[in-house]
Amino acid sequence: MTRYRFFTAVTLDGFLADEHDSLDWLLSQPTGEESVLPYDAFIADVGAIVTGRSTYDWVQAHEGAVEGAWVYTEPTFLFTHRAPAGVPEGITVVSGPPAEHRVAIEAAAGGKDVWIVGGGDLAAAFARAGMLHELFVSIAPVTLGAGKPLLGGRFDLELLETGRNAGFLEARYRVVEARS
Ligand SMILES: NC(=O)c1ccc[n+]([C@@H]2O[C@H](COP(=O)([O-])OP(=O)(O)OC[C@H]3O[C@@H](n4cnc5c(N)ncnc54)[C@H](OP(=O)(O)O)[C@@H]3O)[C@@H](O)[C@H]2O)c1
Repeated sequence: MTRYRFFTAVTLDGFLADEHDSLDWLLSQPTGEESVLPYDAFIADVGAIVTGRSTYDWVQAHEGAVEGAWVYTEPTFLFTHRAPAGVPEGITVVSGPPAEHRVAIEAAAGGKDVWIVGGGDLAAAFARAGMLHELFVSIAPVTLGAGKPLLGGRFDLELLETGRNAGFLEARYRVVEARS
């Protein structure tokens, strides 16, 4: 069975980014080497990536992408109603309910995990479709008061593992079910 995982950093008050999509609060944090799920180990199990449009735009603007390229080597599904000009190789532009794309996403993942990079409403749509198994959060020692929420909806989670990496509190959860 393909495992869908939402792996992300978040503020203590539950935001992925501020209202202007800034990650300054995250990039200014010192990081350590003690993660219970280091990025390299996580990405080694990833066969396909899912991203929403704001997250895609942020990555393209900040992660040193060469114009027309995409930073990840894994096949990527970009959820948007506005296909970007010059879609980079490796990206499939999709829209609508995640379940409509399940067969294609899982075929692309080739038996490995699917990383839902963000954002929170898209991750919640996956969860409601039964397409989110795990949430791994690195909780930064910062609050923002407002911003882009971690998960757009009500869900029951089961805490599976915790850790500490520098100032980050890490927590791995199983997604149990949506709350009505
Ligand atoms: N802290 C972290 O580690 C971390 C991780 C991930 C993301 N982030 C940041 O968090 C922010 C998340 O932004 P966001 O909350 O706006 O979420 P997002 O999912 O990145 O972008 C939302 C947009 O994606 C499109 N979209 C989402 N679901 C769709 C669907 N089912 N069908 C078609 N289009 C769909 C829509 O755009 P259109 O209708 O305009 O096309 C929607 O407005 C970004 O700034 C990102 O950089 C931070």
